[in-house]
Formats: sequence, structure tokens, C-alpha cells
Amino acid sequence: MTSESKIYFYPIWLRIWHGINALSILVLIFTGINMQYANQNFKLMDFELAVNLHNIFGITVTLNYLLFFIGNMMTSNKKYYRLKMKGLIKRLILQVNYYTSGMFKNENPPFPLNEKRKFNPMQKVTYLLAMYIFVPGLIITGLALLFPETIIEEVYSLSGIFMTAVLHASLGFLVSIFLVIHLYVASIGKHPLNNFKSIIDGYHDISGH
Ligand code: HEM
Repeated sequence: MTSESKIYFYPIWLRIWHGINALSILVLIFTGINMQYANQNFKLMDFELAVNLHNIFGITVTLNYLLFFIGNMMTSNKKYYRLKMKGLIKRLILQVNYYTSGMFKNENPPFPLNEKRKFNPMQKVTYLLAMYIFVPGLIITGLALLFPETIIEEVYSLSGIFMTAVLHASLGFLVSIFLVIHLYVASIGKHPLNNFKSIIDGYHDISGH
């Protein structure tokens, strides 16, 4: 669906998923930091409250992930996530060159967006990593920690729970890094707020690209 220079990129189910996911992940990062570093000298909020909120929003992200996964599987949105490996490195280099140099010289983007291309190669790779590796990994390790009796007791004489917790915290750290890069990249465009408007009203403005 196109209206003048606008493309309807974000259907309602995707925007609902994204809104719940963004809010929940922010709460999870905040409460997660509070739990990870809690000691007598560092306390952002009550520890018990942090644990309870972390559990509630962790389950929210898990159920909401089903909406993303099934929605992507059942609609044409999945086509934007198909990655062609041939020439990928070359395409990524072109995009990085644009972000680090071309963009500041007012050059045209190497992969302008259109009906067939919603993401540039760098966005595609980071979204695939975040949505099909980091978030599912967080969900699996998080559920395991919620039901610790499901975790193997020892892995090479190291506690299974400890290993799962380290993996969970590491993936949380990677999602936090993703979020920082995501927010920066989303602010690039004709106006820094354009993309943020798109993920709310569904329409992406391609004029000037
Ligand atoms: C404050 C939090 C967040 C804000 C403001 C935000 C903002 C945005 C914006 C503006 C877009 C559309 C433009 C673009 O594709 O770059 C977008 C898309 C997207 N965001 Fe976020 N985001 C947030 C958190 C997250 C988190 C935590 C994740 C995943 C862990 C995420 C995953 C995605 C994905 C996968 C898309 C593309 C969806 C699609 O079109 O299929 N976002 N986000």
C-alpha cells in the first residue's frame, strides 16, 4: 500500500508487538542491572520488586515474541528478513561506508528503501541477530532460570544454574548494545524523529532518500 512518497511498512500487529517489546525490554534492562549489581552500596530499587517485575516483563516478552514469530511467519513481512549470503560482506561494507562517511557528505544511501526493501543490509543482519538469536536465547535461558529444576546440575564441574545465568546476562548485555545501535540508526534520515513516527503510525516516508 503506497500513498505518495509513503510506504505502509509497519502493519498494526507489528506495531503492537514492537511497542510491548520495546517497553518490556527497557524494564528488563533496568531491573536486570539492579539485580546484577545489587549490594549494600548500590541499589536503584527494592530487590524483591526488581525480581518480580523482571519475571512479569520476561513472561510478557516471551508471549509477545510468539506474536512476532507467528506474525512474521504468516504475513509478507517475512520477506524483509530473507538474507542472501552471496555478496553480503560487500553490501555490509557499502552500508558501513555510508554510515561512517557518505552520510556526512550528503551522498545518497547505497540501499534506498522501497516496497521491496524495508531494511538496509546492516539493519537486516542486526534484526536477524536480535530477533532470531539474542531474544530467543534470552527467553530460553530466562525460562530455565525461572524453573531451575529443568537445568542440568553440573557442566564440567561448573554449576549449570551459574552457566545459564552467565549466558542469560551476556545475552541481555548484547540486546542492550543492540538497542543503543538501533536507536542511533533509527534516528538517521531526513528528520531524526521520522522513523520513530513510522513505527507508531505505520507509514515510512521515502521522499528525499
Ligand atoms: C525504546 C525502545 C525502542 C525504540 C524507540 C525503537 C524504535 C524503532 C523504530 C523507529 C523502528 C522503525 C525503523 C527501523 O526499522 O529502524 C523500529 C523497528 C524495529 N525494532 Fe525497534 N525500537 C525499540 C526497541 C526495540 C527492541 C528492544 C527490539 C528487539 C529486541 C527492537 C526490534 C525492532 C525490529 C526487529 C524492528 C523492525 C520490525 C519490522 O519492520 O519487521 N526494537 N524500532
